[in-house]
Amino acid sequence: MRSSMFRSAQTALRSRVSRSFSSESSPDRKVAVLGAAGGIGQPLALLMKLNPLVSKLALYDIAGTPGVAADVSHINTRSEVAGYMGEDQLGQALEGSDVVIIPAGVPRKPGMTRDDLFNINAGIVKSLCTAIAKYCPNALVNMISNPVNSTVPIAAEIFKKAGTYDEKKLFGVTTLDVVRAKTFYAGKANVPVNEINVPVVGGHAGITILPLFSQAMPKSNALSDEDIKALTKRTQEGGTEVVEAKAGKGSATLSMAYAGAVFANACLKGLNGVPDIVECSYVQSSITELPFFASKVRLGKNGVEEVLGLGSLSDYEKEGLEKLIPDLKASIEKGIKFAKEN
Ligand code: LAC
Repeated sequence: MRSSMFRSAQTALRSRVSRSFSSESSPDRKVAVLGAAGGIGQPLALLMKLNPLVSKLALYDIAGTPGVAADVSHINTRSEVAGYMGEDQLGQALEGSDVVIIPAGVPRKPGMTRDDLFNINAGIVKSLCTAIAKYCPNALVNMISNPVNSTVPIAAEIFKKAGTYDEKKLFGVTTLDVVRAKTFYAGKANVPVNEINVPVVGGHAGITILPLFSQAMPKSNALSDEDIKALTKRTQEGGTEVVEAKAGKGSATLSMAYAGAVFANACLKGLNGVPDIVECSYVQSSITELPFFASKVRLGKNGVEEVLGLGSLSDYEKEGLEKLIPDLKASIEKGIKFAKEN
């Protein structure tokens, strides 16, 4: 009796140990990509399939997802992939999701601002968020659909109406601004690009994108005020640079997918209890007078654990902050108005 008890305790211990050392030791996590057959959605589906923290990957779109899912599913990594097509299957795609990434919608063409996408994308975001409130109200929502400055407030209003809003779980993905700031800064300052960190605050359009190069690490003394101005402008116009280069064939898809995958990975790590996960994101915030603002955010088991402050700003950054407030405020109000009237 005693020895069999001992044996079973040993077996239990062994299985615990082997589980915690196996390559699939992280908890089961389902990630849904809404808009998975699109320009951002497809490479994002690929990158999420490569993420070992994902156990289930749900690929949803209005068309084309069976093909994307069949294709991606052949990759020999952990997650089980399923494609869902059309609104009838949206609930199934969302059920049980821990993280929902939304790149759905239409992209910019040359000459358009992100706000020009408002009329189409606002409606798409509204219907997707209505379904999220119904089928996976506890999921972390990573909003990529533009204009992010307005679509995040729209999502918040939809969730409030449904009684499911949790400000810790709604994120505008601004990681591409950080990715661009790092790349451009490294090029100019001649420092190793993989070591750079640059916070980017504010929002995700034009002058609302405010890179804080005064806080860039590692520091570089090689840059003049003019260089910093040029880098700031290039970061703010990074999306437009791609739109123009693609000359009518859309906006950033590959770098956006990369940035979306980086941010989703940070969310998953936070959910799994990995300490000190900090990324910039556009979230509900009280660090300025605006209800939503991008800044560094500490991620944890419930999503946002802490919205970090701006730190000390250079005079040029202070000026940029002052200038962006009215612009960002108008985009937030436009989103809230839309959600209330529709
Ligand atoms: C960009 C778009 C995808 O920043 O928002 O390029």
